[in-house]
Amino acid sequence: MSKKLFIETLGCAMNSRDSEHMIAALKEKEGYETTDDFKSADLILINTCSVREKPVAKLFSELGVFNKKKKEGAKIGVCGCTASHLGEEIIKRAPYVSFVLGARNVSKIAEVLHRDKAVEVDINYDESEFAFDDFRTSPYKAYINISIGCDKQCTFCIVPKTRGDEISIPDDLIINEARKAVERGAKEMFLLGQNVNNYGRRFSSSEHEKVNFTELLRRLSKIEGLERIRFTSPHPFHMDDEFIEEFANNPKICKSMHMPLQSGSTKVLREMKRGYSKEWFLNRVEKLRAMCPQVSISTDIIVAFPGESDADFEDTIDVMKQVRFDQIFSFKYSPRPETEAEHFTNAVEPETASERLSYLQALNTAILDEKNAQQLDKIYTVYFEDLHTNGYVAGRTDNNFVVKVKGSEELLGEFKDVKITAIGRTILTGEIVA
Ligand code: SAH
Ligand code: F3S
Repeated sequence: MSKKLFIETLGCAMNSRDSEHMIAALKEKEGYETTDDFKSADLILINTCSVREKPVAKLFSELGVFNKKKKEGAKIGVCGCTASHLGEEIIKRAPYVSFVLGARNVSKIAEVLHRDKAVEVDINYDESEFAFDDFRTSPYKAYINISIGCDKQCTFCIVPKTRGDEISIPDDLIINEARKAVERGAKEMFLLGQNVNNYGRRFSSSEHEKVNFTELLRRLSKIEGLERIRFTSPHPFHMDDEFIEEFANNPKICKSMHMPLQSGSTKVLREMKRGYSKEWFLNRVEKLRAMCPQVSISTDIIVAFPGESDADFEDTIDVMKQVRFDQIFSFKYSPRPETEAEHFTNAVEPETASERLSYLQALNTAILDEKNAQQLDKIYTVYFEDLHTNGYVAGRTDNNFVVKVKGSEELLGEFKDVKITAIGRTILTGEIVA
């Protein structure tokens, strides 16, 4: 009987891809099969996120539960960003943990498994050319890493301390991986990096030809059978005209852009070291919408960054009203260890922070309700990728709206034109018209 692996993945899409890499190695090299039931697993992995404080506190309570209820002799491994930043401390606080594997060390999974109390968390470890075994959760779309780490030093962000400096993955490796995924039936690629449009800034080999993100997109879009390209996350600072023009004019690039604003106040953006102003952000949105009217735009916003005044918050609200984002991920600022902002002393009162977050989220809901109402009777091409409940199949439009229609497996991996017949906050319902 094969050994069983239970893996829980928290955080961003890069963590999801790291989990796929670990599953691949454990299947190929160690004969594991995945299970959804941790109580029957021989190995329990938690792939952690440390971007905000809450998930870290949750980790230790969860580890306690796993330890109490796990199968006799089962191992527990802690991987990902919290592993990178807490390292050995995890084993000190939870001595039953078998190993700790950092976000930039996932290629060592099959090895640490056999070294009790191993701690591998080097953030300078270079996995940019590592040939990972192949495993994909979805046959219809493929996550592909294009870089590791992040070179920005946003003052609130722990990621550069958990994933290290930025290194781009050679473009020929990326293209080969995309080709392989297409051969196996994936028509959509999702390119991943902490700052994708900084691609090409540094390769592991100094001999590597200069290729920037726009050029990488051009090269990838030549792959026959590859129909859709998505990516996350681009940085507003690096959204030059050449990039926006390629985005707008290349039919294979999906017309949905994530533009992490963080704050609408130029003063706060400066304190965050984001490298752009409110005006630059609005100018980029204007250019994007002018060139590509159908684009949907999503964003990340942090409220109550240290020193954020009422007027600063008003600037964020002003940007929201001007841009009318299609999706917002909003957070209260959470101080993180080893970041510059951790030492800022002008914290915003917790009640003010909560009020601002509620206000912003209510405004967003109102904007989305207005925007969604306009979707009725529109026709979109949907790429179906998931079986939904109650006899529905779900997929995404080019500009990233989720749509479900009545149907079954045979729709999976297919493109169909769908007319929208009902509106929901997170999902639209439709009927196939062609
Ligand atoms: N490069 C990635 C950033 C990863 S962190 C990207 O652009 O998506 C994802 C989001 O978490 C950030 O955009 C930010 O909005 C939020 N975040 C990061 N650090 C945070 C902190 N200390 N407090 C609150 N939110 C934070
Ligand atoms: Fe974090 Fe800023 Fe990089 S948000 S991941 S340091 S671009």
